[in-house]
Amino acid sequence: MCGIVGYTGSAPVAPLLIEGLKRLEYRGYDSAGIAVQEGDQLQVVHRKGKVATLAHTVDHFDFKGTCGIGHTRWATHGKPSEANAHPHTSCDGRIAVVHNGIIENFADLREELQSEGHTFSSETDTEVVAHLVERAYNGNLVEALREAAAQLVGAYGLAVTCANEPGVIAVTRKDSPIIVGKSENGAYVASDVIAMIDATRDVVVLGDGEMAKLTADAVEYFDAEGNPLSPKITHIDWDLDAAEKGGYSDFMMKEIHEQPRVIRDTLAGRLVDGALKIDELDMSAEELNLVDRVYVIACGTSYHAGLIAKNLIEGWARIPCEVETASEFRYRNPIITPTTLCVAVSQSGETADTLAAIRDAKVKGAQVFGITNVVGSPVARESDGVIYTKANKEIAVASTKSFLGQVVSLTLLAMLLAQVKGRMRMNQIRMLFRELADTAGQVEAILADTYSVDKAAEACVNAHSALFIGRGMGSAISKEGALKLKEISYLHAESYPAGEMKHGPIALLDEGFPVIAIATQSPIYDKVVSNLQEARARGALIVAVATEGDEEIQQHADHVIYIPKVRDAFSPITATVPLQLLARRIAILRGCDVDQPRNLAKSVTVE
Ligand code: F6R
Repeated sequence: MCGIVGYTGSAPVAPLLIEGLKRLEYRGYDSAGIAVQEGDQLQVVHRKGKVATLAHTVDHFDFKGTCGIGHTRWATHGKPSEANAHPHTSCDGRIAVVHNGIIENFADLREELQSEGHTFSSETDTEVVAHLVERAYNGNLVEALREAAAQLVGAYGLAVTCANEPGVIAVTRKDSPIIVGKSENGAYVASDVIAMIDATRDVVVLGDGEMAKLTADAVEYFDAEGNPLSPKITHIDWDLDAAEKGGYSDFMMKEIHEQPRVIRDTLAGRLVDGALKIDELDMSAEELNLVDRVYVIACGTSYHAGLIAKNLIEGWARIPCEVETASEFRYRNPIITPTTLCVAVSQSGETADTLAAIRDAKVKGAQVFGITNVVGSPVARESDGVIYTKANKEIAVASTKSFLGQVVSLTLLAMLLAQVKGRMRMNQIRMLFRELADTAGQVEAILADTYSVDKAAEACVNAHSALFIGRGMGSAISKEGALKLKEISYLHAESYPAGEMKHGPIALLDEGFPVIAIATQSPIYDKVVSNLQEARARGALIVAVATEGDEEIQQHADHVIYIPKVRDAFSPITATVPLQLLARRIAILRGCDVDQPRNLAKSVTVE
């Protein structure tokens, strides 16, 4: 949450900061600001609202400076306002700070600083950092930041600049990402590589407690004690295209259409000589064979991928599997032994609750395995092994392609566990793998014809609420469908296992109430159809996602969205796609911004 960016070099900094902030806007978009070194002063501009509003204001300043920092905010302490927008400055206005994270002890620090005469101009937790650096400053910005950071409790990615040190930016982090890069034209810092990828693909992912001093010609790295560090360079191999819409009207649509590629890339190289290969797990077949309990820990959409994995891991490998939201898992006392495998699923790899949960699981002795989309992210670094989902950068706040990447990765993991447990023969593995690979083409077919999705969207657009139902895999899929709809269209949506309707939710139904049912071919198809009939008898408007060739379903539904026939185990891959399209279409018809829904941010780095 929140995006920070900084540059020092030979080029005018303001346009670079604005471009970087636009690319980081997925991390928060309620206010934005920049601080630029102009002559021997710092010039700070903030605006409430999106980066475009800031950009418009910055156009009226004739900034000449070549060193500065910027921020796009997702409010935690203090409402979105101009005063609360970063950068925040010291009393004398010569030090400016941008921050991603939360300072938990800010109230005590603020009181202490105020008693010493520091005056505050915002309600944010961040402002204490500007005053702490000011108090510690003795001609060396890096040292002052080190001293300030040592007093902070919480999570932070910080970039600081000072009018007394032309061309210098000091950075540090704890539990919030900081990426540093260097090109011929200067040095860059950002919360995400996407802000600098057109300047450099070789970056340094700063570790917790580490610091860097950026100048136009060099970047120096230090550990928390100030000793010089040789940084590990990470090469980024995805394209800048990921940050562009590529001809689509929004990122969400572009990312939905990338899903066939994500499936293919996630599977590439995984079947070797007829056996599954996931070397990154870093566990031998013998160690895996000992696993007797699996926890999948995740939040939001990633949690839904976990619900799908539970069906597969228990069904194929016969290992008990529990799926838990990380925010609950971290505060309970789950049963963990050395033969417990914890699988942390996180697109961003930086979700605060997921990270805290895996740290706790490791302390209790579990093996931790990460499934993430971001190379070098905290989840990747802190797990014993990691699978990357190969979705490439996901910009739209609502996850689509990363979800499919997670489902495919978890399906591979379930097959691997079944393989090592001797519950699946090699020929079965090969057959399943082929069918899994075929889903890429099947998703392409779904994307090629969206007529029935669009018609169903038109029928639902004026509803006040919608119910998503399904059984088995369909129940997990319906949860993701409901989340997509509510987060981007602001239409209330709820998901229920179809069999639970009679235990309460059916009372909601009246004439025209949309019920979206996952009614694909499965061993419990007939049961879902019975539940549809019950809903229809109460006047509900039925939208059914069904398998091609199923003529019967037309008698029970007002709108049928057909998808290709796949085995039930792979239905989440195909059946989720029309639900993503449906949610997007309804949101567009309701005039919503599908890429940047209100109140949300792509990375949830606070509790
Ligand atoms: C919904 C969505 C969120 C995320 C959740 C976890 O579309 O994207 O629900 O899935 O915030 O984020 P990650 O996967 O980054 O841990």
